[in-house]
This record gives sequence, C-alpha cells and structure tokens, in this order.
Amino acid sequence: MKLKALVALLSDRKVHSGESLAQQLGVSRTAIWKQVRRLTDEGFEVARIRGRGYQLVSRVDLLDSTMIADLLEPDLAAEVHLRVLGEVDSTNAEVLRQVAKGCDHKLPIIIADAQTAGRGRRGRAWQSPRGENLYLSMGLVFHGGFSILDGLSLVFGVAVAEALEGLGAPEVGLKWPNDIFLPGGKLGGILVELQGELQEGVVRVVVGIGVNVHMLSADDVDQPWISLGKACADIEWSRNQIAAAVIRAVSETASVFSREGFGAFQEAWQKRDIYCGQQIQVRGGELQGIGCGIDSSGNYLLKTAEGEVVPVRAGEISMRVVS
Ligand code: BTN
Repeated sequence: MKLKALVALLSDRKVHSGESLAQQLGVSRTAIWKQVRRLTDEGFEVARIRGRGYQLVSRVDLLDSTMIADLLEPDLAAEVHLRVLGEVDSTNAEVLRQVAKGCDHKLPIIIADAQTAGRGRRGRAWQSPRGENLYLSMGLVFHGGFSILDGLSLVFGVAVAEALEGLGAPEVGLKWPNDIFLPGGKLGGILVELQGELQEGVVRVVVGIGVNVHMLSADDVDQPWISLGKACADIEWSRNQIAAAVIRAVSETASVFSREGFGAFQEAWQKRDIYCGQQIQVRGGELQGIGCGIDSSGNYLLKTAEGEVVPVRAGEISMRVVS
C-alpha cells in the first residue's frame, strides 16, 4: 500500500476508522496501523482516537500532477509534459537531463517535493526541505540568441510576482534582477540556466523557480526570508494551485517576450522595484548610488553622488542596501 493513498484519505482531517481505511485501500487493519506508524515516523501528526480511529492533525499539501494539469487551460495542459517527483537533486538539473536525452515536448516541467542539491544563483545552494515549498523548473525555447538571457531572467520575476498576487499574496516586490520579495524578506528566487544553442539563434533555457510556501523555520539561510504561510497565515496555500498559476504566468510571459521583447515588461518590473530610491552599493562598495530602476535592456540604474546615472549589468553582480 502506498503511504500517499493513506494520506490522501486522511487529508480531510476527519476521523476515519481503521476498518473503513482498510476497506478503501484493500488491506488489513494491521497494515493500516503499520502505515500510520510510518506516517508518524515521517513527521506527520496522527491522533489515535480510542474506539473511533485515526485523525490527521498536521497540514497536508501533497503535490499532484493530475490536479495541477486540471487547473490549467486545456490548450496549455496539452502542451505541457509535467512530472512530479518525490525527490531529485535539482529540478533544473532534471529538466536539463531530460532535454539532453532527447525529450522533445514543447514544455517539459519538473516539480519536486524535495531537492537534495537545489541550486541558487551565483553558485549558492537553495534550501529545499521536503513538503514545504515549491521547486519547479520549465524548459523553454527562444529565438534571438544568447543576448536575450539578461532580460529573460527579469521578466520571469514579474510573472511569478503576478501569479502569487493573483492567489492573494500582498504586493510582491522584486529585487534586481529577479528575487521575489515580501516586506519580511526573500520569498523566492529564479535561476535561469542555458541549455545551449539548438541551431543558430535558437536557444533552450531552463527556468527554475523556488517559492517558500509553508516553511516556518530553516537552518543555513544566510539572509532574511519569509514564506507565504508566514506572511499570510489566513490563506490555505496549496502548492498545486501555486504551481498551476506559476506555469500559466511563465508560459504567457514567454510568449509575450518572444513577440515583443523585454520592453513590454520594463514598466511592470519597475513598479515592483524594492531598491527604488534606496542608497545601494555594488561590488562590495566600489560603486554606490540611489536606485533608479532599470533601462530598456534590464540593466539596473544607479544615480551616484555626482549625479551620473550608471547602468549595472545583470549577471553575477550582487547589490545590497547600504546600512
Ligand atoms: C536564487 O538564488 O534566488 C535562485 C533560486 C532558484 C531555486 C529554484 S528551486 C527550483 C529550481 N531548481 C533548482 O535547483 N533551483 C531552482
């Protein structure tokens, strides 16, 4: 018997007798009792109510590929090749492997419940505890050569911010180039990786999105962070709904970007700029100035004390507010 099937039955958080669970899953009551013990070992809180049965006390938000596909519009669902994995090193790495093996689906998507080697920008690790957050990667194809990449990573930030606001998150901000922010700290991040040039001017990229959903505590995160659950405890966040909203937003954004380029997103990005008007330093303090948004290529603009506006190129530069 699959543990997932038992969790699905208990996920309504009502009391279920051992007998009815056994009947529905076609196993013995002893098997149910053993699986309930396994659930407890895996960190779920299950109450045993004498004479009545079992009741799941802890929150469950299981990822389910069918549920996600059902939430997509039929045209989009038909284009998507979606796999949900229990655990993987990195969803970005898995999409890259799939594509390298010759998967020719238009939109390969991998979502995982946990990542053992989640990748962040600038070679950092991305903490990816099981069952807590969204770890999602999509493979996309663009025409325009490598030069489109800087702008691309910015537009996906706008897409994710809009998707989360559509589900009830309040005023999602962006920290250049594409960190997703709420007032309490970083809510998510985006890692765009290049697969390579398929033919001249045609590039395949993998966009990997991590959003903190239920996480309430985390070790080894080196900056202030927040999750949707912490920021908006009154909303019952569902990773399946978030995944569907993000897939829809990213695929729409990719089409508009292909047709109209980065310019179509400049204003939308700028409205969310958390650095606007702040004293910012770049490259360990070498360059300082007031944040003034982005130019038409996605470079960040800083106004120095001398009044000069200096563009900072997207890529491997880190910026922070001067404290
Ligand atoms: C950042 O450093 O802000 C980018 C973080 C990107 C994390 C996501 S989680 C899903 C995908 N798989 C990875 O290994 N990384 C990205």
